[in-house]
Amino acid sequence: MKILGIETSCDETAIAVVEDGTKILSNIIASQIDIHAQYGGVVPEVAARSHIGEILPVLQRALDDAGVTMNDIDAIAVTRGPGLIGSLLIGVLTAKTLGEIYRIPVIGVNHIIAHAMAAFLTDSPPSFPILALTVSGGHTALTVYQQDLSFKVVGETQDDAAGEAFDKVAKLLGLPYPGGPAISKIAEDGNDETYQFPIAKMKNPLDFSFSGLKTAVLRQARELENQDKLSKQQKANIAASFESTLVKSLVRNTQKAYETFNPACVVVGGGVAANKRLRLELQRALPNAIFVPNVLCGDNAAMIAAAAFKMPQNNIQTLSAAALQVDSSLETL
Ligand code: KG4
Ligand code: ZN
Repeated sequence: MKILGIETSCDETAIAVVEDGTKILSNIIASQIDIHAQYGGVVPEVAARSHIGEILPVLQRALDDAGVTMNDIDAIAVTRGPGLIGSLLIGVLTAKTLGEIYRIPVIGVNHIIAHAMAAFLTDSPPSFPILALTVSGGHTALTVYQQDLSFKVVGETQDDAAGEAFDKVAKLLGLPYPGGPAISKIAEDGNDETYQFPIAKMKNPLDFSFSGLKTAVLRQARELENQDKLSKQQKANIAASFESTLVKSLVRNTQKAYETFNPACVVVGGGVAANKRLRLELQRALPNAIFVPNVLCGDNAAMIAAAAFKMPQNNIQTLSAAALQVDSSLETL
């Protein structure tokens, strides 16, 4: 079964062809990072306009790379949410139109679930029940998935997402967007014990909160700046101390959730899952954790197709192209 995946929830126009939910035949990602970097973050209106220009060329490249035509495609999977409403609309309208023209089913996919299901595109696919740590620019959650993709969010951020915290701290240190890779890079030259930043205590010990951490970093930076302009070494020390605190919080909660729910597998996905320190420390705490490969951590359409393949059959059939709606706040399958 060949599924065409379409992902336009934020600042990547991505289309992929995936066979039987596991084999990537093509995976094209047109990133808008350069466009948004000049504004220091994603500008929704600019993102939506850029998707319009990119989507058809990206579709053609995805089909060409896979060596197929639309007539070979059995179903279309598209991100229906969560995400930027204008951006989501471009992907969903494209999927619906292709579905009508080629008379194939269109499956709406939850972007957050897809970040976890990207683990099925690895050489060692996970088994259910899966505990997923999903860490992206918009979301940070610990979720337990059953075979039928029904799920329970057992912990989530009560304010900023992990990636958002990286992006905001990067901005205050004068680093470019996206902040995660930029912070990680300078943190390599820093000492992570220079500053003691706080990990929030939550009522649900599996929940996260990063806004206090972000404020503590801001205060520290301002205090140093009152004396002099931040030096390269001071920035590196702040970045390292921030990154290690945030990673500690993610690892601690994931380990707690593992002990509480005893899942068959732990999966780590989403943009922040590309973080080297997170990979290292989680691997140390949970040696069997499956990490989504770096190229599939950020937004991509192969994960959308992989997630659609895992959706229960009855769920797929009920979603006709006409019924499919964008849902930018989608919380369910
Ligand atoms: O999953 P993603 O591509 O988009 C969303 O769905 O949000 O995640 C993007 C986020 C950004 O906040 C970016 O700064 C962060 O992932 N990120 C990283 C790294 N690479 C990307 N954060 C920490 N370390 C990285 N190496
Ligand atoms: Zn994402």
